[in-house]
Amino acid sequence: MKKYGLLFISLSLGALILGAFFGVLAAVQYVFPDFLKEVIAFNKMRPFHVSTVLAWIILSSTGGIYFYLQEELKLKPSASWTYKTHFWIFVICAIAIYVSYFTGQMGGREYLEFFPLITIPVLAGWALFGISYFKTTFKQVTNWPVYLWMWGTGIVFMIYHLTEAHLWLFPYFREYFIRDFSIQWKSYGSFVGSWNMLVYGTLIFVMHRLSHDETVARGKKTFFFYFLGLTNLMLGWAHHTYFVPMATWVRFLAYLVSMTEWLVLLNIIHGWSKNFKKKEKSSIHHPAYSFVMAADYWIFINVFIALLISIPFINYYTHGTRITVMHSMGTTIGINTNILFASLIYISVYLNGDRIQKVIKQLRIGFWLMQSFLLLFLISLLWSGIKRSIWMYSQGEYLPFSVLHEEIKPALISFLISGFGLFIALALIAWLLFRNGIYLAVYKQAGEASNRSKNRW
Ligand code: HEM
Repeated sequence: MKKYGLLFISLSLGALILGAFFGVLAAVQYVFPDFLKEVIAFNKMRPFHVSTVLAWIILSSTGGIYFYLQEELKLKPSASWTYKTHFWIFVICAIAIYVSYFTGQMGGREYLEFFPLITIPVLAGWALFGISYFKTTFKQVTNWPVYLWMWGTGIVFMIYHLTEAHLWLFPYFREYFIRDFSIQWKSYGSFVGSWNMLVYGTLIFVMHRLSHDETVARGKKTFFFYFLGLTNLMLGWAHHTYFVPMATWVRFLAYLVSMTEWLVLLNIIHGWSKNFKKKEKSSIHHPAYSFVMAADYWIFINVFIALLISIPFINYYTHGTRITVMHSMGTTIGINTNILFASLIYISVYLNGDRIQKVIKQLRIGFWLMQSFLLLFLISLLWSGIKRSIWMYSQGEYLPFSVLHEEIKPALISFLISGFGLFIALALIAWLLFRNGIYLAVYKQAGEASNRSKNRW
């Protein structure tokens, strides 16, 4: 199981580099719309990018969970065919999705544009993940810490919402617009909630392992956070479904829950960091710590953005502009990617602390490049979003789109340059972790390496 965990992680690092590279190509197409138009036009480049970076989030969380179950929690793995088949099903599905995009045999809906039948093996892969997970944990762990609940919930709800997102294939749902529209967007919101369960569970696990603070894993506040996340997931992550017709009280409740969830998470990380600094001054130099704290700052920034763009008056002007894209990438890179890097660094240090120590300077450079370029990247999207919104609502009638495109160009060039910088930073971190931690462990005996270097941090 440990080895397959590391294989999932290796695949995820490849997906991160490739996915961010597709993002750069899509950004070149923003500035030069004819770039690669004949080979992969923007309408294909975008799904290539989005599916590949989402694969990074899902595969690295999955790999981390498999690894932690066996190596860190010392659980006896379930039958090996379950996780092995899970891995190979996902590899085959990834190839099938690329073939579907490349040949234009798509037919799916936004964010899941690939040929819809591919969803069946994807669901089978998730079911196998569920079987491995619950078979491993049920009998061997009593009194579950919160991260085990979060991972289990994430897996179960992922299966449910991935299915729900494809209900449009049945005429009963597809032929009635309001029903179809509501279910599609509600399922997308819950889909995000489900992967957040996997990612936030990983965050809590890493924070617990770094500090050995039991309140992080079993405290009342963390369980409150879990239940808020669960409610949020069921309500469809309100600020994602703002335009779905629903009763006002549901909208208010959902909105309140989705903002509170982030505020509670901020509070948990702050409390953890305070205790941690007091207790173990030397461990805050663990490189995973910086990534956890970076995620904390990005949560703060994103709460602020989400609060603003959920106000109906502002939402009216921002919807359909790059301000929404700023929010999506702000959260998936600023929060999810920083947390997952913290997890992979934790694993790499655990396996090969000596090697990571040697590249610590490069890792820190990668860290600062990532955070700085990300800030510039998001500001450029905001800049271009505001310009477009002004054009849509006050200049569109008399100013042709070509003029807008020229006016917006400086913002797009700034987006492209910062996006390229971000790509370099992400690729640098991914490569350092792969080369010095993960890769070695896949081919060597992971156990030996971990025993040698566990206590260096
Ligand atoms: C970890 C890295 C990244 C993640 C997780 C990520 C995530 C995403 C997501 C979720 C979207 C969909 C946005 C939406 O529909 O609201 C998106 C779109 C996009 N991303 Fe990224 N991204 C990453 C890196 C990059 C990089 C390095 C670039 C380079 C410039 C980039 C450029 C783009 C572009 C051009 C779009 C299309 C936006 C549109 O539809 O107009 N991304 N990304």
